[in-house]
Amino acid sequence: MSVADLWTFKLPTAVTLGNGCVRQLPQIAVAHGARPLLVTDRELVRLPPFACVQEMLPGVPVFSDVTPDPTVASVDALAAQLRAGRHDVVVAIGGGSAMDCAKAAACLVAGNLPSIRAVHSEGVPLGSAHLPLIAVPTTAGTGSEVTPFAVLSDTEKQIKGPIAGDALYPVHAVVDPELTHSLPRKITVVTGLDALSHAIEGYWSRNHQPICDLMAIEAARLICANLKRAAQQPGDAEARSAMSCAATLAGAAFQLPKNAMVHACSFPLSARYHLAHGTACAFTLEEAIRFNAPVMGERMTSFLRGIGLASAEELTALIHELKQLGGLPCTLRDAGIPTADIPSLARESFHPLMRNNPRTMTEADLVTMFERLA
Ligand SMILES: NC(=O)c1ccc[n+]([C@@H]2O[C@H](COP(=O)([O-])OP(=O)(O)OC[C@H]3O[C@@H](n4cnc5c(N)ncnc54)[C@H](O)[C@@H]3O)[C@@H](O)[C@H]2O)c1
Ligand SMILES: [Fe+2]
Repeated sequence: MSVADLWTFKLPTAVTLGNGCVRQLPQIAVAHGARPLLVTDRELVRLPPFACVQEMLPGVPVFSDVTPDPTVASVDALAAQLRAGRHDVVVAIGGGSAMDCAKAAACLVAGNLPSIRAVHSEGVPLGSAHLPLIAVPTTAGTGSEVTPFAVLSDTEKQIKGPIAGDALYPVHAVVDPELTHSLPRKITVVTGLDALSHAIEGYWSRNHQPICDLMAIEAARLICANLKRAAQQPGDAEARSAMSCAATLAGAAFQLPKNAMVHACSFPLSARYHLAHGTACAFTLEEAIRFNAPVMGERMTSFLRGIGLASAEELTALIHELKQLGGLPCTLRDAGIPTADIPSLARESFHPLMRNNPRTMTEADLVTMFERLA
């Protein structure tokens, strides 16, 4: 694609970002409904970021039965609670897991389907109806607060993958970096590398476009300059603010061009081997840069210049250092994946996102890549 090609940019989600902005939640919620429901995950419900949000909306009922990599069953259960309480606005607090579960349930409850499984794996379209959803991210990672996607797992069918549609855009993203100060080092690195993957993949996707490019470069620049600091000094407000801003920018940067090989490969790594999403993305990120950079020419040079690095090797070295800092697996052996699984892992990585990759990836290329990662 060149800048002369046809493209459309949109982001229907209002974004409010800054330390303390969670205090605006009461006015934002009341603008969208009178009977809110708070949604969070099983761990976060006991932690300070959730208490801080709950203080803003006292007496509001809570659904906290979301697990990491949310399941179709949790979406269905949340939709049932939304129906039973006749709630008219959803406030999702948490990382991608809580936000995605809530986004999917806010759509399910407004349509006629008995289960989100129909949309996830049975080919039924999502439809356009949805309850308004306010997203309050507490990780600096997925960008789900500004994307039209929800990634769900179906434990019965053993599949993990996204559902997509404009009905999944939150009406408002309230991004308060102070909510991320309690993130432990490992989750800081895992989620930060997911955001970096979004910036890189949104930029190199075959569907890249100029506005998203700008956001991708700025997101990657902020992450390269701040992720290590945020991981080493959890209370560093400047680094945390930069990371929250970067994650939202990266979400806005990939939501239209969509991701590519790194995310395609992440799905079997998460579904079969239970790697956290960011860990699964980070697993192939350096290899993907080595594979794609040579065909990107001037666009890769501009990206590297924009993020303040001299070469693709500097970028892969920084990613490797971050993975070691967070204790992430760098090899199949570290991840507990037998090398005998390489052929099936390569086969299962051919999610449609693979077609966005700037360089055509064959099954043989993938086998070679996973052998290098052994
Ligand atoms: N919708 C999208 O556009 C999109 C994009 C990328 C990834 N995803 C999906 O998002 C999910 C991953 O989300 P995630 O990486 O944000 O992790 P997560 O939501 O699963 O959270 C990880 C852990 O961090 C804890 N946590 C969250 N905030 C915390 C805080 N401030 N302090 C302490 N602990 C905190 C949670 O309780 C949880 O145990 C995956 O299912 C992934 O596929 C969605
Ligand atoms: Fe991701």
